[in-house]
Amino acid sequence: MSFEDGNHVWGFSTAGRIFFGWGAASVLRNVAQEFGPRVLICTDQNMVKAGVCETVVAQLAEGKAEVNIFDQGQPEVDRQTIERAAAVAQAYAPDVVVGLGGGSNLDLSKAVAILVKYPGPLPSFYGENNIPGPIAPVVAVPTTAGTGSEVSPVAVVADPERAMKVGIASRALIPAWAIVDPALTVSCPASVTAHSGMDALAHAIESFCAKVRTDCSPHAIFVGKNPMSDILATKAISAIAKFLPTAVAQPKDRAAREEMAMASLLAGMAFSAAGTATVHALQYPVGEATHTPHGLGNAVLLPTVMKSITSSRIPEMAFIARSLDPALNSKSDADAASQAAELVEKLGAKVGIPKGLRALGVKKEQLPQLSKMASTVRRLLDNSPVPFDESDLLRLLQEAF
Ligand SMILES: [Fe+2]
Repeated sequence: MSFEDGNHVWGFSTAGRIFFGWGAASVLRNVAQEFGPRVLICTDQNMVKAGVCETVVAQLAEGKAEVNIFDQGQPEVDRQTIERAAAVAQAYAPDVVVGLGGGSNLDLSKAVAILVKYPGPLPSFYGENNIPGPIAPVVAVPTTAGTGSEVSPVAVVADPERAMKVGIASRALIPAWAIVDPALTVSCPASVTAHSGMDALAHAIESFCAKVRTDCSPHAIFVGKNPMSDILATKAISAIAKFLPTAVAQPKDRAAREEMAMASLLAGMAFSAAGTATVHALQYPVGEATHTPHGLGNAVLLPTVMKSITSSRIPEMAFIARSLDPALNSKSDADAASQAAELVEKLGAKVGIPKGLRALGVKKEQLPQLSKMASTVRRLLDNSPVPFDESDLLRLLQEAF
């Protein structure tokens, strides 16, 4: 690998194939032919009870797949659950692992697909680029619009032996197929729609406002702000600004569900290349301390972090503000940019996001410890357009309190 210091050279990866559209889940019929007949589905009880799992099994079976199901997935998936699923997988020896559900189930399917090929232990894969080679192929079928895990190189694991959630990051984790069927998101409860939609917005905004990285290899997993992720992020921001409130208030609105599924996919593609930054770095310890959903924590933290980087990202913040309030088209970039954080907060309020970390159950005396933990998430903080040390992070948490 060679690149000259100071030149902006970047790389981009996404899922091997993306299927998108109302009814796209029907391509599951082709899974056995593409990857082999032995299919393991990683999902949870909600998917079983809602009948989604049954539909997926029927479609796989139409394509002559033999299907085994691990249906004990949990929100914010933990190491024990992964190891239990991996034991099932190792005994069954699947040709392909289908992840069905929210981001946690998709992350579960990725971790299982590692352990099908390599014995572990799981912590030996934590961090960046610690997977020795290709994993079992993953087919990701998201049923929420937000995580972007269907195209991302990351699986997040809650390990009780670690103080914070840990990430496994490697391009080997990018699913072979991402099947994004907005029809599968219709049964998503309003709060999940809101939290995951705000997570997608955080992905898009953090990618769009990330640092331009000339300090890392174009082979790095996250390469910072780049023209490709900008295109994806801006499309996602416009769609979320327009359609998230409708998707939350009118769950059966087909156009809103389609737009949000697309926005989530695009934002996922954007951050899978650019990387996320300070919002996600702060959310890691906040989520751990409060046991609140990932997207909810990001939504609460996002406006404060935006304010703190606005002066370094005026054109980007102006774009975000104008997406949320077209009346700002007649204002200067600086004027529009100064409204961006507040407009994102207003969007959050509209879809039921509470204001302040206090509402998530964070105690004031926890803030120094949370900032200390967040300051260790260098992988994400290095993407911030403004450098933040532990004392800066404490100030941000105090402002977001
Ligand atoms: Fe996220």
